[in-house]
Amino acid sequence: MYCRLCIFIACIFSFLPLSGQENEPPVVRIITPVENEKFSWGTLIPFDISVEDKEDGYTKYDEISPSKVILTVQYRSDSEKAVKDFNIDFNRTIETLSLMGSLDCFTCHKAKEKLIGPSFAEIAERYGNRTEPVELLAEKILMGAQGTWGDQIMPAHPNIAQEEVEQMVTWILNNASDANFNFFSGTSGAFKTRNEPLGETQGSYVLTAFYTDEGIKGNLESPKTGRQKILLRQK
Ligand code: HEC
Repeated sequence: MYCRLCIFIACIFSFLPLSGQENEPPVVRIITPVENEKFSWGTLIPFDISVEDKEDGYTKYDEISPSKVILTVQYRSDSEKAVKDFNIDFNRTIETLSLMGSLDCFTCHKAKEKLIGPSFAEIAERYGNRTEPVELLAEKILMGAQGTWGDQIMPAHPNIAQEEVEQMVTWILNNASDANFNFFSGTSGAFKTRNEPLGETQGSYVLTAFYTDEGIKGNLESPKTGRQKILLRQK
């Protein structure tokens, strides 16, 4: 038997107008590796991430596009730990990588390895941490490009707003060549730990997985990001 009060409350809730509905934040979990797991230098660490979002669905039922699930991997030597968690503006990083994940960038580009297009690290090394190339590169993304890196074609992206294209290019030029920073899109994969650094006793990796949801359709409420951060320690 259900209690009458419960039925009454359930009825009231089911009649609440949809506009009063709140967008629930996604729940992001790094399943492997686990917090405080030990790593060795120069080895592959597999990772596995799950996302559950009330509105968008579950990664385990293929309801969420894997390219929108992102893992950042940051190495830091323990002597730097006290200085700062990250050298990068992490909120900006989450925002920009979520934007790229919602577009098609990661089907052709990876952070550190060539795919169909050059890696973002190669692009950052070529143009440097300068502002002049931003407009040029933004235009290439908008209009499409070929010939600078080889015969492969980057298709035009005429529907991306100018300021969003510039945000992505600026982020790439400022961050992608940092040897201690890497990122992956997808719910599973593996990253390689660095070779043993000379004269260093201890180091750690900070892994942050995140997913930015789509908000509630037809509702002005903005999207929400769920994230989980874990630390791996050196063996
Ligand atoms: C279908 C594959 C593909 C997609 C999708 C794609 N790119 Fe590219 N991208 C390329 C290729 C290939 C090149 C190299 C073009 C060349 O050689 O001129 C490139 C080059 C670039 C460059 C360097 C341009 C230059 O002149 O040096 C940037 C920056 C870039 N892409 C960013 C992005 C961003 C951001 C997105 C997502 C909005 C994106 N790309 C989507 C394939 C792609």
